[in-house]
Amino acid sequence: MPDYDIVIRGGRIVTAAEVFTADLAIRGGTIAAIGHDLGKGREEIDATGRLVLPGGIDPHCHIEEVGADGSVQEESFVSGSRAALAGGTTSFICFKPQWRGQTLAQSAPDYETRAARSLADYSFHQIITDPTPEVLATEIPALAARGIRSLKVFLTYDPLRLTDGDFLKVLASARRLGLLVTVHCENFDAIAWQQEALLAAGLTDPVHHAWARPPVVEREATLRAMALAELVDQPLQIFHVSCGEVAEEIARAKARGQKVWAETCTHYLTHGVDDLERPDFEGAKFVCSPALRDRSEAARLWEAIRAGTIDIISSDHCGFSFATAKKDPGASSYGQGAAMLRPDGTPAFNAIPNGAPGIENRLTVLFSEGVSTGRIDLPTFVRLTSANAAERYGLGGRKGTLMPGADADVVLWDPELERTITVGEMQHAIDYTPWEGYRARGWPVMTIRRGEIVMRDGVLLAQPGSGRFLARGPYAAIAPRGVVPNGFDTVGRGSGQT
Ligand code: URP
Ligand code: ZN
Ligand code: ZN
Repeated sequence: MPDYDIVIRGGRIVTAAEVFTADLAIRGGTIAAIGHDLGKGREEIDATGRLVLPGGIDPHCHIEEVGADGSVQEESFVSGSRAALAGGTTSFICFKPQWRGQTLAQSAPDYETRAARSLADYSFHQIITDPTPEVLATEIPALAARGIRSLKVFLTYDPLRLTDGDFLKVLASARRLGLLVTVHCENFDAIAWQQEALLAAGLTDPVHHAWARPPVVEREATLRAMALAELVDQPLQIFHVSCGEVAEEIARAKARGQKVWAETCTHYLTHGVDDLERPDFEGAKFVCSPALRDRSEAARLWEAIRAGTIDIISSDHCGFSFATAKKDPGASSYGQGAAMLRPDGTPAFNAIPNGAPGIENRLTVLFSEGVSTGRIDLPTFVRLTSANAAERYGLGGRKGTLMPGADADVVLWDPELERTITVGEMQHAIDYTPWEGYRARGWPVMTIRRGEIVMRDGVLLAQPGSGRFLARGPYAAIAPRGVVPNGFDTVGRGSGQT
């Protein structure tokens, strides 16, 4: 009779704090023991030469999102979660929509049913576009009670953005309930003003998307979001920081003791505004917001990562196939302004759906760019890809960690394996990858989700519907190496407090 379900022997165990060689045993879906000379497993896995990492957590991805017009994004919960597992990500947090003029219950009422087909574990951020008294007083508290403990607001995009007044209402509600507020920071009116001038001048190419949204529109909105959050004393998670000048403002706010955290996304570390200039409309593949920046910005983002100003790297996976971007202007809510077709039938830049697929490549690209190049060490890699997200989003102790009692979400990683990324070998439903032809060093060879081997040597073994909804606890500040960052609350405020 074996002692354990699985024993992984002789790998280099990597946690948020240390790296050591040991065996790891799994029983009943959780980690049962880490040590030497552990008993026998029903399945014995030799991990010599491999790293043993916590399963990745992607806390910002758009999966099967339903638009205000009822249209559904191409990336389904099945294809998106297969992509996640193939890339070493075992949990993700995506977005439940609210559309203006509707309650939360009326907006995509079947979204949670759709999500139940996921192969990976999942949770939601609730998008708020219309914070009516009923939404604030009844619906958001009901969500919080069910473990949906983060709200998402947009300061731009036509049908989604909040006014400052509505943003303040959301911040105050979150503070009362101990919820985290996540925010897309760009100045809507500044973008609209720039767009109008560009379109009037006939500047309609994909690259003009970046001209319409220069760093200053992101910096202004980030400063405003942080100022309003400071007024309410509500912690804030800034999404997808794209450039150094925004990171510098966040560092200043943190230094003042403000409760603000930040993420960037893999594509801002590897791509630049020049990608938007690719010929034959291929630049449309790289239309995302905030826009890709000058290549020199990646070095500034790495500085912010090393300084801890940016401490999570998400994918912002938001797939629209190239074919869709070409043929179906306005296919998503993630655009701005009336759709205009150009003489060749392609849409002007403002009607190209914003976003790029990345959930499958997030870990391998970050490992290649970060660890294989020596920019970051292995514990930092774990903090950026899982541990910090687990703490920040109320999954601490359960996900993003390798310790007895935690869910057995484990990735066996070959740090030397070199592979070229190509869309034909990927699981996602989108018809391209921004990393086509990218030579990666470091690749997942096995993914284990709650004790089940769900990917082995690139072959997916999990069934649709085997992922679980993750009811989350309060946000927490991560305190690496026992240091509590100056001025941070370590737990959310209890309900009823103002
Ligand atoms: O371009 C992007 N980022 N698309 C997804 C929506 C968002 O803003 O996160
Ligand atoms: Zn966004
Ligand atoms: Zn996003």
